[in-house]
Amino acid sequence: MATKRFLTGITTSGTPHLGNYTGAIRPAIEASKRDDTENFYFLADYHALIKCHDPALVMQSRLEIAATWLAMGLDPERAVFYRQSDVPEVMELSWMLTCMTAKGLMNRAHAYKSVAQENIDSGDADPDKGITMGLFSYPVLMAADILMFKATHVPVGRDQIQHLEMTRDIAQRFNHHYKDLLVLPEVVVSEEDAILSGLDGRKMSKSYGNTIPLFETSKKLRKLVMKIVTNSQEPGEAKSTEGSSLFEIYRAFATPEETAAMAQAYADGIGWGDAKQQLFEKLDSVLSEPREHYLELMAKPGHMEEIMQAGAVKAREHSVPLIEAMREAVGISSFKK
Ligand code: TRP
Repeated sequence: MATKRFLTGITTSGTPHLGNYTGAIRPAIEASKRDDTENFYFLADYHALIKCHDPALVMQSRLEIAATWLAMGLDPERAVFYRQSDVPEVMELSWMLTCMTAKGLMNRAHAYKSVAQENIDSGDADPDKGITMGLFSYPVLMAADILMFKATHVPVGRDQIQHLEMTRDIAQRFNHHYKDLLVLPEVVVSEEDAILSGLDGRKMSKSYGNTIPLFETSKKLRKLVMKIVTNSQEPGEAKSTEGSSLFEIYRAFATPEETAAMAQAYADGIGWGDAKQQLFEKLDSVLSEPREHYLELMAKPGHMEEIMQAGAVKAREHSVPLIEAMREAVGISSFKK
């Protein structure tokens, strides 16, 4: 029997990019192929409402992210693959946890604090400008996602470590006050080299606008690759792979042999134009098959709907019994007993 239960979610508020794939989706799909783990992967669509109030964008992103997981090879038979919004027990749990969460704990959450700090830095009179209760309470919803399924291991980026600490804190409080129903999860931080740099050299992230989407047409993909920042070194000059986004992205998609050959080419003074062409060809060859699959899936939303609904049925086999036990524990169960 599997003893480790992995769970992770992706917020559906944008178009999936190379960094989402190497940092989250690829390792998760690999893990789902092993027999010694159980895997829960979900579209964090209620999280999307924290930062995106455009219904068309949220809808589009949900479709795109679902199609990406499937096109990249996630077998829904080997994982519980579902939409957060299809598991209403998560929202119910979120409230129970909210009532067990110290406001002071949330005051310390980076996600909210960084916006407040920006307001202060820009001289705004109101440090809470633009901060909704959704943003403020976001770690509680994330805790509910994790605790609902008794996850033991949660793979996330570094920026999410604090949320895992908060999740443990909240779970402990609940267990201590009511009943030992919640499992304290461990954080699994993505490996450093799975985190890609973007076009401008900073971490590839939607919030920096420096991403390369996974499923652009070949033509657009080539254009974007040509935009990756390099330096002013000429062809013939030896180049360093250290800190080169171009090299980093290449390495994330190439075999170790190909990567060694590229490192040699850098040392031998490959021109930036040639290196970019090689990166483009690599990405295009790795992504062309999944791209076709992705486009097919995007053209058949009804088919994806069926997959997601089947996933929700599996997810709720876990969430319904736990929420019943929790209702009982907090004093909100049937009158007739
Ligand atoms: N907050 C996460 C992020 O922005 C996404 C997420 C939501 C998540 N719920 C989760 C990740 C539960 C892991 C487990 O990356």
